[in-house]
Amino acid sequence: MYKAVIRPVLFCFDPEKVHHFTFSLIRTISKIPGVKGVFRSLYRIENDKLEQELFGLKFKNPVGLAAGFDKDAKLYNELSNFGFGFIEIGTLTPKPQSGNPKKRLFRLKEDAAIINRMGFNNGGVEDAVERLKNPSAALRAMGVLIGGNIGKNKVTPNEKAVDDYKICFNALFDYVDYFVVNVSSPNTPNLRALQDKEPLTQLLKALQVLNFQKPKPKPILLKIAPDLTDEQLLDIIDIVTETKIDGVIATNTTISRDGLKSANQSESGGLSGKPLTKRSTEVIRFLAEQSKKAFPIIGVGGINSPKDALEKLDAGADLVQLYTGFIYEGPKLIKDINKALLKKAQ
Ligand code: FNR
Repeated sequence: MYKAVIRPVLFCFDPEKVHHFTFSLIRTISKIPGVKGVFRSLYRIENDKLEQELFGLKFKNPVGLAAGFDKDAKLYNELSNFGFGFIEIGTLTPKPQSGNPKKRLFRLKEDAAIINRMGFNNGGVEDAVERLKNPSAALRAMGVLIGGNIGKNKVTPNEKAVDDYKICFNALFDYVDYFVVNVSSPNTPNLRALQDKEPLTQLLKALQVLNFQKPKPKPILLKIAPDLTDEQLLDIIDIVTETKIDGVIATNTTISRDGLKSANQSESGGLSGKPLTKRSTEVIRFLAEQSKKAFPIIGVGGINSPKDALEKLDAGADLVQLYTGFIYEGPKLIKDINKALLKKAQ
């Protein structure tokens, strides 16, 4: 239904407008009595065999929604009915910011991919906190976990970036289950320099200091780019070990344009979807092998089928997330991945 009827219509229009339209549509139809239940019966699988305990949290199933889709925590309650085990909101920054000029989101249909240069457009962390104070009873009952992905404002220089991450961390602390430190978006100038060993160690240590002042610290994960070299990935393993953070999300979008067919491939920004599948799985495998599986990994990047998800899990990921696959394949993909996992477990 989604691929045959809904997607062809949606794909006729501007991607960012479609994003906002779909948001409004999901919100509106979810208000109709019975509809949320229909979504749940169509897309959600409850089975103990899918459950996983990681960094002290119980995930009802290992398929999550990646950051960037519900940046401002406007739709997480409704999205929880689509079968996700966890939903990551953000990237949020301390102050609201409008992001890069439009057009900044592009479909690469022939490649089953997206290029985005959104630039952390968001309404600011305080605004999102207000909405996170109201998780629905259904979300709680289903045990869907919420991740808070945090970043820095564009105007904040890298030397002051730690302050921005601290503000977001403190503001969100009571309202999310885990944190993601995003230093890997290609769309905030110079952000990815924060992936270098020294600034990254300082940033993560500063957040851990805050974290361990809390009565019950929360898991902190680091989200990395797929464009890091092996040497940089080895540094990441050292940093995770040294700062004792809880894990890594691999990967964000890529700046590579290798092997694309679509005419609009030269748009600047981060590439996601199918062309990223192989590289992000390589990064997961490298981290898992080289660290001897010293920490949990959430695998993300180009999961367009159950097979892609299983490959990431086989490579060493403990959980998976998707964004572009959700756009191209629709919510059925979440159920299909969970079904494939159950089949494998038999
Ligand atoms: C993203 N992604 C992203 N990641 C992040 O950490 N913070 C963000 O704000 C965003 N924003 C964002 C916007 C858009 C339009 C896209 C397509 C992606 C990256 C996303 O979470 C994921 O890491 C990559 O897209 C790779 O996964 P997929 O899309 O190939 O499944």
